[in-house]
Amino acid sequence: MAQHKDPILILDFGAQYTQLISRKVRELGVYSEIKPFNISIQEIKKLQPKGLILSGGPESVYEKNAPLPDKSIFDLDIPVLGICYGLQVISHFFAGEIAGGTKKREFGLAEFKIEQPAGLFKNVSPVSKVWMSHGDALDQLPSGFETLGSTESSPYAAFANQKRNFYCVQFHPEVTHTVEGKKILGNFVYEICKCEKSWTPGSFAENTVAEIREKVRSGKTICGLSGGVDSAVAAALVYKAIGDKLHCVFVDTGLMRKNEAKEVGETFQNYFKSNFISVDASREFLSRLDGVTNPEEKRKIIGNTFIEVFEKEAERISDVEYLVQGTLYPDVIESVSAHGPSVTIKTHHNVGGLPEVMNLKLIEPLRELFKDEVRNVGRELGLPEKVLGRHPFPGPGFAVRILGKITQERLDILREVDAIFIEELRSHNWYDKIWQAFAVLLPVKTVGVMGDMRTYENVIGLRAVSSLDGMTADWSRIPFEILARISNRIINEVPGVNRVVYDISSKPPSTIEWE
Ligand code: XMP
Repeated sequence: MAQHKDPILILDFGAQYTQLISRKVRELGVYSEIKPFNISIQEIKKLQPKGLILSGGPESVYEKNAPLPDKSIFDLDIPVLGICYGLQVISHFFAGEIAGGTKKREFGLAEFKIEQPAGLFKNVSPVSKVWMSHGDALDQLPSGFETLGSTESSPYAAFANQKRNFYCVQFHPEVTHTVEGKKILGNFVYEICKCEKSWTPGSFAENTVAEIREKVRSGKTICGLSGGVDSAVAAALVYKAIGDKLHCVFVDTGLMRKNEAKEVGETFQNYFKSNFISVDASREFLSRLDGVTNPEEKRKIIGNTFIEVFEKEAERISDVEYLVQGTLYPDVIESVSAHGPSVTIKTHHNVGGLPEVMNLKLIEPLRELFKDEVRNVGRELGLPEKVLGRHPFPGPGFAVRILGKITQERLDILREVDAIFIEELRSHNWYDKIWQAFAVLLPVKTVGVMGDMRTYENVIGLRAVSSLDGMTADWSRIPFEILARISNRIINEVPGVNRVVYDISSKPPSTIEWE
């Protein structure tokens, strides 16, 4: 990664909120990076951080093999903020006493009273709501530390050694429930670490464009556009850097939403002018998916077919040297898992496998960004709001939303249903409140009655979720009246459907897609 001005380094001890800390710091205008807690001190020095944040984590420092960082992080002469488990880590090294077990457990909102209204708590209300989530709490302050604030059950909810700039908070300033959390993090990065505000979509775009221009001096570059935000913003950055040397390819798999191929074509033809190619490969995809019902097999077929079609286009362009990919920061963070290596739940196909097969060099201009930052950079580059606000859409598209066999007839049904659902969400101003909404076509038929006729038709499942990153999600509380209208319209307007159900499962334990 490029060297950034005044970065904050976050050491990850495996908390579910670690990425949130990083995002909040960046929202404040300061670049932050996440590294595993056991990164070497040499590597830390290389990154030249202006401050360190020790994240929360599921462990207790008293457990055998509890994760601990290199102690010499405290000799770097930079400020350190320990959050929750991070507080325990600092206390451990400076001999504080932690009461383990259940007696000090605290989950949920608490009232935090400030005792020292300066430094970390400058301009924060004397009493404010904070979010607690911990099993252990401090019984005795580490030596050289003083109390900054307390809650009813944590007399040392915040404390510090202000001479050495070591700060500890028991609560989570990064979650929105901590009402003044952002102010507290802002105080840490600006008042204590003395960072300069330098991380903005504009400065990111400018630096990235310059880097790409430097890297791709000659040589053609190819990018697969999916219609989604990530590939669009990645391509727009590269286009700005190298103009005509970029060739964008859109593959119509025939598994997309109603009018999607046409709309994507029009939007990008406008933006990328002459070097935009749209390939209709729908027949190839459909014939290879004929009779296939297993979701992983569907994904594999789609992945391989995509590579073939894309390779053919690249050969036609000839002498292609680079491939642009829309990889995001959450995909490249080396995560600390408290529960061992995670299992593959779904093989996510985007254009994975392409660089190896085609022997191309990679350009990944979004490797440092979170999804919301991608949207802001896109805005900076003047991409249309319709592209930037679009819900995520999986590479295999309707293939994993038609459960069971995929046929032209079933594709047509789902396309109409999905279009009604999305149109109604837009017209009731719900589309932008939702992370992702879609319909699935189930492989069962149910009995209905229309007029005097008994029907035996398809069932549709509707899914709408709120989420920050797709890793966890909750079902959206769309008002019943809107759901009623959507259901009515679908059953009345789409022949072949006589029942609509709404999915009220959260992730985990369910996933967002049904397959
Ligand atoms: P799940 O269903 O795993 O989805 O909860 C999380 C996010 O990933 C998307 N998704 C995919 N994206 N290829 C993709 O490019 C896939 O095979 C795939 N499967 C799921 C899903 O739409 C959601 O945004």
